[in-house]
Amino acid sequence: MKLLKTAFPAALACLCALQAQAQQQPVYLDDTKPIEERVEDALARMTLEEKIAVIHAQSKFSSPGVKRLGIPEFWTSDGPHGVRPDVLWDDWKQAGHTNDSCVAFPALTCLAATWNTSLARIYGESLGEEALYRGKDMMLGPGVNILRTPLCGRNFEYMGEDPFLASRMVVPYIQGLQSNGVAACVKHFALNNDENHRNEVNVVVSDRALYEIYLPAFKAAVTEAHTWGLMGSYNLFENQHNCHNRRLLNDILKGEWGYDGVVVSDWGGAHDTRQAIENGLDMEFGTWTDGLSFGASNAYDNYYLARPYRELIQKGEYTTRELDDKVRRVLRLFFRTNMNRDRGFGSLCSEAHYDAARQIAGEGIVLLQNEDGVLPIDTTATRRILVVGENAIKMMTVGGGSSTLKAQHESLPLDGLRQALGGKMEVEYARGYVGDTSNEFEGVVAPHDLKDDRKPEALIAEAVEKARQADYVVFFGGLNKSWQQDCEGSDRKEYGLPYGQDRVIEALAKANKRLVYVNISGNPVAMPWKKQVPAIVQGWFLGSTAGDALAAVLTGRVNPSGKLPYTWPASLDDVPAHSLGTYPGTWRKGEKIIDEEYKEGIFVGYRWADKEDIRPLFAFGHGLSYTTFKLGKARADKDEISANDSITFTVSVTNTGSVAGAEVVQLYVHDAESSLERPYKELKAFKKISLAPGETRDVALTIGRDALSFYNDRTRQWTAEPGRFEALIGDASDNITSKVAFTLK
Ligand code: BGC
Repeated sequence: MKLLKTAFPAALACLCALQAQAQQQPVYLDDTKPIEERVEDALARMTLEEKIAVIHAQSKFSSPGVKRLGIPEFWTSDGPHGVRPDVLWDDWKQAGHTNDSCVAFPALTCLAATWNTSLARIYGESLGEEALYRGKDMMLGPGVNILRTPLCGRNFEYMGEDPFLASRMVVPYIQGLQSNGVAACVKHFALNNDENHRNEVNVVVSDRALYEIYLPAFKAAVTEAHTWGLMGSYNLFENQHNCHNRRLLNDILKGEWGYDGVVVSDWGGAHDTRQAIENGLDMEFGTWTDGLSFGASNAYDNYYLARPYRELIQKGEYTTRELDDKVRRVLRLFFRTNMNRDRGFGSLCSEAHYDAARQIAGEGIVLLQNEDGVLPIDTTATRRILVVGENAIKMMTVGGGSSTLKAQHESLPLDGLRQALGGKMEVEYARGYVGDTSNEFEGVVAPHDLKDDRKPEALIAEAVEKARQADYVVFFGGLNKSWQQDCEGSDRKEYGLPYGQDRVIEALAKANKRLVYVNISGNPVAMPWKKQVPAIVQGWFLGSTAGDALAAVLTGRVNPSGKLPYTWPASLDDVPAHSLGTYPGTWRKGEKIIDEEYKEGIFVGYRWADKEDIRPLFAFGHGLSYTTFKLGKARADKDEISANDSITFTVSVTNTGSVAGAEVVQLYVHDAESSLERPYKELKAFKKISLAPGETRDVALTIGRDALSFYNDRTRQWTAEPGRFEALIGDASDNITSKVAFTLK
């Protein structure tokens, strides 16, 4: 009894103490408190060492949290098409995990080609779920660098040539991703438009082109999608590397746009401690000298924002003013992601993710040409199909640089067609050409042996012989993810197709009238044989469901509705970066810098084609369907607008064919009178609409003052000048079906 009497009050006291402790939970751990209060509380508790630690990497893809305070490590991953397989702590070799495969989503060029903003949201959401399940807090993507030359090895990771299209697609992607509590890291900021010597290229560009062409998608990512992360690019602008570029990061990003997130260096993109301290870099990863691919191992303490920074503070050369700003941003990132108790657990390789990937692929594939209605393949009258080409049997999720993936499953084009048609007809295969038979990237090995020692003549002869016996020939060619193809770190060497594919295509065109050319790439390529090949399809890098999605479009189960997110030039002479002789730039005497002047200014892509009256092979916004659409005469709700007003254009769209399909109505603005030279037209609104056969619906497109503005680099202001404008409405940049005049007061 005595024991009970003394033990009971002691237990009670203990309970009370625990309760008090819980009530005194530090503010930074209390998620009922506003994030900014938690940030200040955590910051106040951190030592100098802890602050320095959270602003640089501790391994290839992670940064430390604060062990003492229970703040977890922060894990990043590439990006942007799926969650990359894990590498070793301090080495690019595979970690050898068996639970790090993923669903590979179609490359971002394909997403852009859907012109479907809802799909961009689904893409982001699905990727976010995969990232969460894999324990990642930040995905290194999406990329929104503008396609300026079709030789750029990384265009497949970006969203095409048009700042408006890229802006509209990137916002829902980021919102979808971040709705899972996983940060986006939009990249590569900015002007990273080619890959050769990417650390040495100093871009010289007018402010007008910077603001009108190269920055809008980043701005939308920051001011509309509120991206939590942004990655600086490798190249230089105004003679300063962009990972610590005063103008881009301090003045524009954090100043003009009010960015409150984190600037992450590209892996090895930092070069100078003082610039990194002063010019807006917040987190340093993969520094080239120590830790990217050579140099000392586990050298993270040598990073520019590590020991060297700490020592400068200790010597009194810097206060903690800049450091505290960086740490605040990093803590904000933690509270938004890995310290967000509301975020879920995610899911990996789910049916829903495969469905999303399939739908995006199906809607992004572009039917470029379809003479005599060769496509879809007539499955009732066909006995034999011949499939030709290495890309019919090559995995495309492996390789290409940092976007490489270990897909849980990848359906290949030949398999996709065999699955779709196999029971009904013979599906034969001939190699046609041998391209790059390597099937390994950083230890991820594709399970197919692509070796073939036959000579080109023998391969062509075999393909031609079989083509003569077939009802259809489907050639899968294009580029691949190997070095100097569509691959990070290098540009393509030529615009033409590699590996002698042109010869094979020309021979096949002579052997069989029903030839379908499917181009697998993230870039346009030369097509000297365009007139000889009745059907041409742009098949992108489609990820896990590539074969299924291509087969669905080729057989008509899915009606193609993709539209090109870039102009497809006939030759490099039609691309100003080349015709004006500015790519790849000029080495500065005695310095490791290449100056690349964007002499074409704002005239990129269709803006240049319009200005120079160039007919591309296929225009921006072009894409055919198995049905036909008729766009009615567009009308406006007013003919005069004032500065803060908006104007709505309505156009009826009718599906005049016999199958269901989707059309993208595109609105371009033409400024009829302007004090500065402007492109003839610029995309400012679009909408994708699905219609049953015979169905008619109205599409309404609204634009405001922004759509009429240009960046005036004399006044450093966006300006909408009063005067006459026209809305040019159509279903491709070269097929305008209505022009509606209006005036800005
Ligand atoms: C690429 C980035 C990528 C990073 C990490 C860099 O080489 O440029 O896009 O996110 O590596 O893999």
